[in-house]
Amino acid sequence: MVILPVSFGRKNNDEKKTPVTHFAHTHEEQKPLLLKREARTMTGFDDELKATCAKLSVPGKGILAADESTGTIGKRFQSIGVENVEANRRFWRETLFTAKDVEKYISGVILFEETLHAKSEDGTETLMEILRKKDIVPGIKVDKGATIPVGKDGDGETDTDGMDGLGERCAAFYKAGARFAKWRAVLKIDVEKALPSADAVEANAKSLAKYAKICQENGLVPIVEPEIVPDGKHDVEVSKTVTKNVLTKVFEHLNKENVNLELMVLKPNMVTPGSGNEESEKDDLKVAEYTNEVLLACVPETVPAILFLSGGQSEDAASQRLNLMHKMQKESDKTFPWTLSYSYGRALQASALKAWSGDNSNAGKAQEAFIEKAKSCSLASLGEL
Ligand code: 13P
Repeated sequence: MVILPVSFGRKNNDEKKTPVTHFAHTHEEQKPLLLKREARTMTGFDDELKATCAKLSVPGKGILAADESTGTIGKRFQSIGVENVEANRRFWRETLFTAKDVEKYISGVILFEETLHAKSEDGTETLMEILRKKDIVPGIKVDKGATIPVGKDGDGETDTDGMDGLGERCAAFYKAGARFAKWRAVLKIDVEKALPSADAVEANAKSLAKYAKICQENGLVPIVEPEIVPDGKHDVEVSKTVTKNVLTKVFEHLNKENVNLELMVLKPNMVTPGSGNEESEKDDLKVAEYTNEVLLACVPETVPAILFLSGGQSEDAASQRLNLMHKMQKESDKTFPWTLSYSYGRALQASALKAWSGDNSNAGKAQEAFIEKAKSCSLASLGEL
């Protein structure tokens, strides 16, 4: 028999008892939160943070996640037989950033530190300058990977590294031109082992909140990314319960840390079945329905934008499901209180990478493939795909 961890709540009848959230959705109900926010200290960067959030929340645009660590981009390159050297990484990223019309669909790009100071192929400008000229906001991955063990020995759960000297690093990244940051927390589901454990959820929620506060104090809009990775055979119901619990805990800690929710972006996973579940690429309607339900229950309306990660979904699934979320909301005659869009890595790059395949004379074809996907995501983020 499979035993669901206590922290999952129970499926079906008992699910109502899960402490879903203390966040309210009517203005009346939100008064206590508003009072609390008024008491928040200003950071001196508030106006700029607000302007950055506004740019990252423009309807019909999303973020390109081009911040793969050297190891991760190595895996992507391996799949197309490309050597993982700096010249190739730079060439690839420049190819994406210089694609014609990229600024119509992309509001911001998350960079890995290596790219922050990288020069263009002809050496005349930095990749960051290329982005800024197109009014695309440069952001920076500030975490150092999910490597700190938490929970029970052998369960493989982690907290994310990178808190040491984070304030100084954020200040330096701001000085270099970055205006938002990303910190990825990783949680995994294992129903038999009752994962994610309460310890792992708590540790990661705390780290995300601490990071978010430090970013705001240093002029960077924090992208708060609690990723529940899709590995496993669990069904979509389990994913729904875990996502709800994780997001509830994350907002509990963001509030405790006094993070200004108006000046951040949430980057969650969609509520999908595990990648090893035979339904994983099938039930788009349920994915969209459950994702809407969880986000509406857990994310305060003061958060300006929710920008999904794609998490290994196919390019089609990632855009179709986003599209369905918007369609469902429209059909029920409601609008989302936040911008609901994308911050995809693989779901924007997979076809383009294949088109390039390491042959630089294919750069134009790769750019076309990238823009085609970006356009689909853009339409999906408006429910118009
Ligand atoms: P994927 O869209 O490939 O999941 O990457 C997004 C990301 O930034 C993960 O941290």
